Amino acid sequence: MNKKNKFRSSDWYNSKSNRRDTFVHRGWMRNQGHPSHLFDGRPVIGICNTWSELTPCNGHFREIADSVKKGVYEAGGFPLEFPVFSASESNLRPTAMLFRNLASMDVEEAIRGNPIDGVVLLMGCDKTTPSLLMGAGSVDLPTIGVSGGPMLNGHHKGDTIGSGTGVWQLDADLNAGLITEDEFIDAEISMSRSKGNCMTMGTASTMGSMVEALGMSLPGNAAIPAVDARRYALAHMSGKRIVEMVKDNLKISKIITKQSFENAIKINGAIGGSTNAVIHLAAIAGRLEIDLNLNDWEKCGKNIPTLVNLQPSGKYLMEDFYYAGGLPVVIKRLLDQKLLHKNCMTVNGKTISENNEIAKCWNDDVIKNFNDPLVADGGIKILRGNISPDGAIIKPSAATPELMKHKGKAVVFESIEELHARIDDPNLDVDEKSILVLKNCGPKGYPGMAEVGNMRLPQKLLKKGVRDMIRISDARMSGTAFGTVILHTAPEAAVKGPLAAVQNGDTIEIDVEKGLMNLLVSDEIIKKRLEKYEPVLPEINSGYQKMYVDHVLQADKGADLDFLIGKRGDEVKRHSH
Ligand code: FES
Repeated sequence: MNKKNKFRSSDWYNSKSNRRDTFVHRGWMRNQGHPSHLFDGRPVIGICNTWSELTPCNGHFREIADSVKKGVYEAGGFPLEFPVFSASESNLRPTAMLFRNLASMDVEEAIRGNPIDGVVLLMGCDKTTPSLLMGAGSVDLPTIGVSGGPMLNGHHKGDTIGSGTGVWQLDADLNAGLITEDEFIDAEISMSRSKGNCMTMGTASTMGSMVEALGMSLPGNAAIPAVDARRYALAHMSGKRIVEMVKDNLKISKIITKQSFENAIKINGAIGGSTNAVIHLAAIAGRLEIDLNLNDWEKCGKNIPTLVNLQPSGKYLMEDFYYAGGLPVVIKRLLDQKLLHKNCMTVNGKTISENNEIAKCWNDDVIKNFNDPLVADGGIKILRGNISPDGAIIKPSAATPELMKHKGKAVVFESIEELHARIDDPNLDVDEKSILVLKNCGPKGYPGMAEVGNMRLPQKLLKKGVRDMIRISDARMSGTAFGTVILHTAPEAAVKGPLAAVQNGDTIEIDVEKGLMNLLVSDEIIKKRLEKYEPVLPEINSGYQKMYVDHVLQADKGADLDFLIGKRGDEVKRHSH
């Protein structure tokens, strides 16, 4: 074959220098019935699949992979599907986030170690999107993302019901005695009535939108429902396109740049995206050796209105978003305001502007206009002060406006177990002005930084009709949750960050507009308290969890493992047969 056109996989399948090697690589593949001509030096496309029956959001991915394969064959490539660790948000304990980095290692090594020239990433449930982008980013081959798409809207008792968001509401109603246990259970299948991922603007839909915002998918990828025929057409077209990307050597690093991250931060603000995007984008950027930090969220997120009226910030769901025109409309509206870097490249070889400039909106109540936004100043706000010197975050669009400037007494829980044990105690000294503080739920403390930051409110206040209070923690929150919840406090309590120094009855002052969060206690007392502080941590002495707690970075750095940062490329140093 012409050396100029030699693809990476030819070292496995077409090498003349080591005939025995070639026999082993190619020969064993023949047991699957692949005919000779598929090994003639054409691009080999890996389909990196997070399908698992234990990851229900990705349960339809074998069908999506079949559509991708059709496109790859049509374009003259050779598709090979392979499984990777699938981190299920709804099943995996103690928390799927603990395994995001482990999954990314699986992805990285599987791509690098195999005869693959280009990759299609099949992603859906929350952690499956960042783990695949992180792993693929460290290898940096031509890569295209295909999301699994959201479930159809939930319908229950004549109303729509959104994934996650509906659970938090029903749980509060059950605790307040407003519904029965049977009514609570009845809602399950009404909520999850089709294949796909959570159909609120939770983390899965946010990250699907980030894939499109970063230019890593074909336009329209974020919102097409999982069961819509157009999802399968997009998968087919993505299979076709990746073959061309391999021929053009269009790698991830040519698509994802600092500027595309800046676009993504703005688009996240406009969609009312999940707080988890902050941590995942930082981790993806780290793999691509791009400096992205909380200052970028501050700088780029400023004055971006939330336009998308979806739960948990608003009222609609992803199916409505798709019918209204989906993410291309949001991108066009930001482009019209000259808020985006319009020349950022995308996987189809066109710029973000070329892809979206003709998008049309079919429902201005679902995707609002700039002159009538859902929230005038949305996005993610960063809070700093003596509790969070390295930052904490809040999503104002999901919070109560009256609580954005607040002073209250702390009610402190040293661990998630203590919270569960005491939150419903009728003698708990708490009222609606109190601030709930939860410690030791950060990356090292939990470990894995669970989505427990939207603490359940005390039952006695729920019964009084209270539905929101300020909550502060070093944890994360589900993208489907809502409330005045301050998250990702860094450094975390487990490494003796100043959050650890907060005690019951201390006064905390918050001013979201000014980006401040302070404990009204002197520096000297905080220092003394920290010297004596003993974090409440689970004992972990071995296994993957030991490696995780020894190496995980703080939330503001993306909570990746320190030794995984960076690109390691696609070269295999040694091989043998
Ligand atoms: Fe999988 Fe929500 S649980 S996307």
